[in-house]
Amino acid sequence: MANYVDIIELYRGKKGGIIEAFHALQNEFNYIPEEALGLAAKTFGISEAEAYGVATFYSYLSVKPRGKYIIRMCESAPCHIAGADRVVKAIEDYLGINVGETTADGKFTFELCECIGQCQATPVVTINSEPVFNVSPEQIPEILSACK
Ligand code: FES
Repeated sequence: MANYVDIIELYRGKKGGIIEAFHALQNEFNYIPEEALGLAAKTFGISEAEAYGVATFYSYLSVKPRGKYIIRMCESAPCHIAGADRVVKAIEDYLGINVGETTADGKFTFELCECIGQCQATPVVTINSEPVFNVSPEQIPEILSACK
């Protein structure tokens, strides 16, 4: 695993470097660690508050630790009509967490998302951005237990 110092250094002096660095950090760690925020602020010559503002502006970036598996439930209208709320409940029950939380073992984070353009097969859940189609609440234990 790369360390955050090396990742940030790769983008020093580049236009828009801080955003690219945050993307790279997010890809590596699934979130932006607090120490990395501080170092990014120094490296790109802005205050820590500004760096935090950048990191929290984009919904796909996170400053909170997240799980190895990011489970997202599409909550746009077609998925909603197809029963997304029952799938949400099944995921929350199976993982023992609510939307926006991470399991204590750091394995799963559960979030909601907007339409991912797969409305022909609603409801849609993604696991680390891989879509799973036509998901029913009954399938959730099998789908999530396959995440090792
Ligand atoms: S509304 Fe869920 S994929 Fe389009």
